[in-house]
Amino acid sequence: MPVTPFAVQDPYEYNTGFASYQETTAVPGALPIACNSPQKPPYGLYAEKLSGTAFTAPRDRNLQSWLYRIIPSASHADFEPYSVPSKGQDLRGLTSSSYKFIPDQLRFDPFDIEESSDFLTGRRLLSGCGSPSTKTGIAISMFSAGNSMPSKQAFYSADGDLLVVLQHGVMDVRTELGRLLVRPNEILVIPRGIRYRVDLGSEAIRGYTLELYDGHFQLPELGPIGSNGLANARDFQIPVAAYEEDTESKWSVVCQFNEQLFITHQEHSPFDVVAWHGLYYPFKYDLGRFNVIGSTSFDHPDPSIYTVLTAPSNTPGMAIADFVIFPPRWLVQEDTFRPPWYHRNTMAEFMGLICGDYDAKSGGGFKPAGASLHNVMSSHGGDSDTHHKASNDKLEPRKIGTGSMAFMFETSLMLGVTDWGLTWSKKRQAGYQEHSWQPLKSHFTIPEHLRSHDK
Ligand SMILES: [Fe+2]
Repeated sequence: MPVTPFAVQDPYEYNTGFASYQETTAVPGALPIACNSPQKPPYGLYAEKLSGTAFTAPRDRNLQSWLYRIIPSASHADFEPYSVPSKGQDLRGLTSSSYKFIPDQLRFDPFDIEESSDFLTGRRLLSGCGSPSTKTGIAISMFSAGNSMPSKQAFYSADGDLLVVLQHGVMDVRTELGRLLVRPNEILVIPRGIRYRVDLGSEAIRGYTLELYDGHFQLPELGPIGSNGLANARDFQIPVAAYEEDTESKWSVVCQFNEQLFITHQEHSPFDVVAWHGLYYPFKYDLGRFNVIGSTSFDHPDPSIYTVLTAPSNTPGMAIADFVIFPPRWLVQEDTFRPPWYHRNTMAEFMGLICGDYDAKSGGGFKPAGASLHNVMSSHGGDSDTHHKASNDKLEPRKIGTGSMAFMFETSLMLGVTDWGLTWSKKRQAGYQEHSWQPLKSHFTIPEHLRSHDK
């Protein structure tokens, strides 16, 4: 069945669709009819607009939502600089100012779970480029946490849309627009500006995030594939309105603004949106629902065939970021080297593994919660053992990737790596290049008369 068999049931309600207009209310009659900002909204609520794009963005890209809430989000104290508790670690290495741009192929052992952290304090910037101040670039981080965020604390980022790939544990995510439960093999997207908090289930959490400083994710075009396939719009889940009435407790709201953290305080819950409508909202998606398309004749298709979400650049066909997965699938191609071919890519490829084994690598060096980075024009492909096996395999129909889910953040941008990634985390694997590709031997054989002719 094309649905992930989750161990934990999701108690929340959702609407479904992608880029589809939503309206939802937790109290009948809380949504104004026709008008967005009536003189007196129903039930004494305040109307507040949340813009995800410029007001004048083309209609098919315009993302706005209207929120009807108990107290406007503007009601809070001044922001103050906020430092995440660092346990003595120098956090300067966690910003883009420490990026090192190097062409080496990189691979990382599984990143540890920091039990003392929460979702906000347990994020570690690993790779990226650009700057949120000019709305250019992306940031890739690892996160882990053994604790829920502190009581009465919410967070939002003004920097970018956040794509969360959960690898371990369960995230109970409360947002202004409703609640979502996220489990491994599900992804979560929280657009910039939306306030949320993350509570944990019985286990610690760990995963990967991609912050998109420019634009928003959309579904890839399907071209000749037709009207269905890959990630289908109906499988995306959107929270329904859920609110709490709390105008007495002291809440803190942490804001990420140009990579810096600030904190403010207010005496009302930020999760007081009783009803909302619009196109700008968080959503989740079960990767088990992805409809894999592939070759049924010969050759290994480009990995773009596995794109779940894309954030396009202004160059046609070129993405600021693609989110690509490698789900369980049948390989049936004849006379074909079935693993990924050797290649150099104008795009940078950051890979992670949620569970299982990835078919293009042997020897267990690429493990769940680990990562690899093959930067712009850095050569890569199957390692020596994989090449030997794939070149000599009997090419029967074969299902690969059962119990596995690898993914890739692919970007047209050149990626830097932080000091934390290269050094402090102690997860960079030594000898990755040496062990993967230097053992490749020449199999070049030609008849002797051709060799003579060549001379
Ligand atoms: Fe690649």
